[in-house]
Amino acid sequence: MLNLIVLVSGRGSNLQALISAIEDGRLNARILAVVSNRPEAPALDRARRAGLDTVVIDHRRYPERAAFDDALRIVLEGLETNPGPGRCLIVLAGFMRVLSMELVRRFQGRMINIHPSLLPAYPGLNTHARMLAAGDREHGASVHFVTPAVDGGPVIAQARLRVEPADTPESLAERLLPLEHRLLSAVVALCTDPSVELRDEHIYIDDRPLGRPLVLDRDLPGL
Ligand code: GRF
Repeated sequence: MLNLIVLVSGRGSNLQALISAIEDGRLNARILAVVSNRPEAPALDRARRAGLDTVVIDHRRYPERAAFDDALRIVLEGLETNPGPGRCLIVLAGFMRVLSMELVRRFQGRMINIHPSLLPAYPGLNTHARMLAAGDREHGASVHFVTPAVDGGPVIAQARLRVEPADTPESLAERLLPLEHRLLSAVVALCTDPSVELRDEHIYIDDRPLGRPLVLDRDLPGL
């Protein structure tokens, strides 16, 4: 059994995908708590409707980044030390805060993030618009282990999407979202296998280094 701690900031559709996969029995995991840096995040309503514990650490109440990170660290450590059977995985699912190097190092190897681009292309914000402006023909989403480099950690798996001539940032975001949901659930399912590991910023599966990211529906089955 994999114990998930899901960090959110907004809408929470990726959180919902995990909730649904667990409820349907497709994903052998449980969500220990949903943690948000925004008290108004709709993701918190989704969590409460699903009967999950929620924790709010409003970043606006912390004058300095370090103080927020400290509060988050204490919450995560508390959740991790009391999980019952199984390992813990921290899932950043639309969590829009940059975390300090100290915090990331503390949880490195058991913290993943979903990002709406084919990393290493387009870290940061506004990925759809930047990709269109560059004229790329292929877009996608990545799930990666979190390391101190923002959106720069080793990528576990990606979902790919062909760009159509009529695409806009909005249409791309809409078409990519269902793929993100399937990708995140599939990677979390993969991580239920303890042989999926991060060693020195390199991914190993069954003791073999992962040379390049898995591709959803090719190397990694959707749930
Ligand atoms: C997703 O596009 C995710 O890739 C990005 O933020 C968005 C969150 O959406 N990091 P939601 O809150 O899961 O609906």
